[in-house]
Amino acid sequence: MKVRIEKLDNYGRGLAHLSNKIVFVPNALPNEVVEVDIVSEKKKYIEGIVKKYYATATNRKNINCPYYNLCGGCSLEHLSFEDENTFKEEKVKAILKKYANENIENLPIKSKEMYHYRNKITFHIKDNKLGFYKDNTNSLVEIDNCLLANRKINSLIEPLKALVKINSLEEIMIRTSNDERFVLIKLTGKASRYESLIPLVDVLLINDKVITTNDKILTTISSKKYYLSAAAFFQINKDLTKDLYDVALEEVKNNSLEKALDLYCGTGTIGIYISKYLKEVIGIDKVKENISNANKNRELNNALNCKFLCAKVEDVIDNYKGIDLIIVDPPRAGLKGKVIETILKILPKELIYISCDVITLARDLKILKDSYDIKLVQPFNMFPRTYHVECACILKKKE
Ligand SMILES: C[S@@+](CC[C@H](N)C(=O)[O-])C[C@H]1O[C@@H](n2cnc3c(N)ncnc32)[C@H](O)[C@@H]1O
Repeated sequence: MKVRIEKLDNYGRGLAHLSNKIVFVPNALPNEVVEVDIVSEKKKYIEGIVKKYYATATNRKNINCPYYNLCGGCSLEHLSFEDENTFKEEKVKAILKKYANENIENLPIKSKEMYHYRNKITFHIKDNKLGFYKDNTNSLVEIDNCLLANRKINSLIEPLKALVKINSLEEIMIRTSNDERFVLIKLTGKASRYESLIPLVDVLLINDKVITTNDKILTTISSKKYYLSAAAFFQINKDLTKDLYDVALEEVKNNSLEKALDLYCGTGTIGIYISKYLKEVIGIDKVKENISNANKNRELNNALNCKFLCAKVEDVIDNYKGIDLIIVDPPRAGLKGKVIETILKILPKELIYISCDVITLARDLKILKDSYDIKLVQPFNMFPRTYHVECACILKKKE
């Protein structure tokens, strides 16, 4: 069937209409006329793939990756970087309007490198081949490099492929420091012949067993240093995380706030980053390894006014009062009802909400905005070439 693409949906797919049904087509841009093969058809919509382009858009860009639309990693590689950034700005604006009834005119996104920004990649292994699984399948796309991975990670693919041939592995996770000096690799599966890897890594794990002397690498964000172990959470964009954390830093620098909660704190990175301007920071995260890293990072940065607690936020947030600032950086699902209710009881002067899912962010802002004014929504293109967008919001308690 032949359709004209009208716009992009929130996932970066081309959207068209055909006899009362919506048609979703990846790798298709507004104004393109395409022949579509149907992949699945439901009552209200059709999912398809492009069979032929009759007319292509002027902002279509050459695709630089041989695995595009195969490996499931990127969805906007066919769009210029400038237009990707505009797409993300418009997406945030539209979702905030739709779900939070919030009109924001000007939302310039912060963005740095288009490629090679990831400091962590997990490769899958099947039949002694290394690559990524196609979306929602167990069919593996073998790869030689990945445009999203940093250059250090790409330089390790060849030696890893040799290792994969002589072992029975299922997965390989590589993580580097942001400056790409240090490397941590975790092999999952059966690995008996891994000697060739030892000179190439600083930390090696086979399943959960640490093989090397060290079990952590050292990374940095601006002037702060952070230890990082295999299972700990860490922001994956090696360049832009500093800018994201600077939103919180500028806010605490310029306001007299004393006591802060850093909820969903991961390895304590944000709390430690801003701790110099606060009397006390309490970080909470449910993952034991995150909190053990956070405690090390506290010492490493001499941020002794930070304390970290391993717990579910919803189980302990009731215990806190007299807080000036709450920072939340929840997973995609956003804040649980109980957490929002308790934040509204604690009623800190300021709230900084960092979000990787703008729909749940908008849902939560709709409730919070009864008691808070939204002073800033700053989108960040933390995940170029994908449809994901990160936002940092500053909310101030209404007078
Ligand atoms: C998006 S990460 C944010 C980490 C950190 N703020 C950073 O910038 O690196 C979300 C974190 O929330 C934690 N988490 C998820 N659900 C939680 C819960 N119910 N209670 C506490 N922590 C939770 C995860 O372990 C993860 O570290």
